[in-house]
Amino acid sequence: MGLKLFMIILGIESSCDETAASIIKDGTHILSSIIASQIDVHHKYGGVVPEIASRMHVEAIGPVVDEAIKKARIRLSDIDAVAATRGPGLIGALLVGFSFAKAFAWARKIPLAGVNHLEAHIYSLFLMDHPPEFPFITLVVSGGHTNIYHVTSFDQFELMGQTRDDAAGEAFDKVAKMLGLGYPGGPVIERLAKTCDPDMIKFPRPLLEKNSFDFSFSGLKSAVARFIHDHEVTSNKKKARIAASFQEAVIDVVATKLIRAAKAKTCSRIAITGGVSANQTLIQKVTKSAKAKGITTFAPPIELCGDNAAMIAARGHRMIQLGNTCCLGHDVFSRTRI
Ligand code: KG4
Ligand code: ZN
Repeated sequence: MGLKLFMIILGIESSCDETAASIIKDGTHILSSIIASQIDVHHKYGGVVPEIASRMHVEAIGPVVDEAIKKARIRLSDIDAVAATRGPGLIGALLVGFSFAKAFAWARKIPLAGVNHLEAHIYSLFLMDHPPEFPFITLVVSGGHTNIYHVTSFDQFELMGQTRDDAAGEAFDKVAKMLGLGYPGGPVIERLAKTCDPDMIKFPRPLLEKNSFDFSFSGLKSAVARFIHDHEVTSNKKKARIAASFQEAVIDVVATKLIRAAKAKTCSRIAITGGVSANQTLIQKVTKSAKAKGITTFAPPIELCGDNAAMIAARGHRMIQLGNTCCLGHDVFSRTRI
C-alpha cells in the first residue's frame, strides 16, 4: 500500500476499564473519540475486576467502534489502517481490543499497528493545538505507571525513572479506599482536597536518592494508613485534610523529580500525561514551581488525560508511516517494554 498523507485511522483501546474507539485523520485531527467507561460496575468492588473488565469489553467493543465511525461521518471503506493497544495492561482486556483490531484489519485488508499504551499517553501531547517541541521531559502517570521519559523525537523515549512500588494513581486509589471514598480515587481526592489547607498533616515526601529519578509511593500510602489508624477519621472535614495533605506530598515529589530531570537533560520543557494528569491542582502547582526555574509545563486537555483511543490512533499513525505493523501472529503483552 502506498503511503497516504491524510490517512484515516481507527484507534482501539481496551487495556483496563475503558472501551474506546476513535477516528483520526492525518495523525492529529480527531474526527471522533468514544469512551465507554466501566467505572460504575468496578466501583462496587473498590477496584478493577479483570474478568468483569474482559467481559464488558466484549459487549462494548462493537457498538463503540460503530459509534466512532458514525460520529466521524465516514464510511467503513474510508478507514486506511487500524491501531490497537497491544500492552501493557490486563491481558484479557487487551485481547478483546487487539483481536477485534486484527479481525478488522484482516477483513478489510488494511495494516494494523500494535501500540504501546505508554507511548500513546505521550502522543496525547501531539494532539494538542500547541504540543511541546523536542526535547522534553514527560511523566506518564496513571493507575499502573509513574514513568519519567526524556523524549527527543517522535520515536525516542528514554526511560529515566519509574516507580519502585505503587504508581501514583494507585496510591490515590488506595488512599481513597482507606477513606471510604470509592473508586477511582483521583477525582474524589482532588475534589475533597480543594476544601482545605494542604499543609495540615506533614506526610513523608519519598524522594529517594538525590540522583535517582525513581519514585516510591508505598511509604506515603502506609503513612496515611497509620494516620487513619491512630486518629478517629469519620468526618468529611478530617477526610479532606488527609486528602489534601496526601495530594500535596504527591505533587511535591512529582514537581521535584520533573524539574530535576529537566535540569539533568538541560530541557526547558516538561509535560505530564496519563490519568493522574487530569488533576488540575497538580498541573497548576507543577506549572508554578517549574515556571520559577524557567521551565514550561505541558499537559493534554482533560479528555485526553485518561485512557482514550485518539492517542492510540495518533501513535498508530506514526508506526504505520514507519512500516511498523503487526500480523495475525502477534500477541498482546502485560508488562511494559519501554
Ligand atoms: O491513564 P489511566 O486512565 O489508566 C491507566 O492507564 O491506568 O489512569 C487511571 C488513574 C487512576 O488511578 C485514577 O485514580 C487516576 O488516574 N486519576 C486521577 C485523577 N483522575 C484520574 N488521579 C488524581 N487526580 C485526578 N483528578
Ligand atoms: Zn492509561
